[in-house]
Amino acid sequence: MAIRQILKDGDETLRKKSRPVDRFDSRLHELLDDMADTMYENNGIGLAAPQVGILRRIFVIDLNDETGLKEFINPEIVEPSGCQTATECCLSVPDTWGEVDRPATLKIKAQDRHGKLFELEAEEILAVCICHEYDHLDGILFKDKVKGELQHS
Ligand code: NI
Repeated sequence: MAIRQILKDGDETLRKKSRPVDRFDSRLHELLDDMADTMYENNGIGLAAPQVGILRRIFVIDLNDETGLKEFINPEIVEPSGCQTATECCLSVPDTWGEVDRPATLKIKAQDRHGKLFELEAEEILAVCICHEYDHLDGILFKDKVKGELQHS
């Protein structure tokens, strides 16, 4: 396991569309482990593969609650419903935050690190985090969607 470098806003890799994962092998597992380490090292609650320069449809989330680390591979968001506004920030856009509208609830279908399909229902901060990380897979940053002023510290 290793800490990987997080790409920052302005790096064109962050703006590219990621490709699906087709091999659920040890190389993928190493990447997932490194992504979790990198997220924890930087006190983040989510990290997407393009943020460490890998253009694959992968993200990890850990909200520091009892549900622990979640890994999502080839995710699809289905049945987004309602609206919530949350303040977001991003490890690739340091010292910056702003309010973004996201679905209040959603379901996500994805594969785990062994390729097994699973489905999860999400609301509140988990729904926000899933949408934020999912956007990274399509080259979208939260700052693109901020309502009003982008805040800087
Ligand atoms: Ni982000």
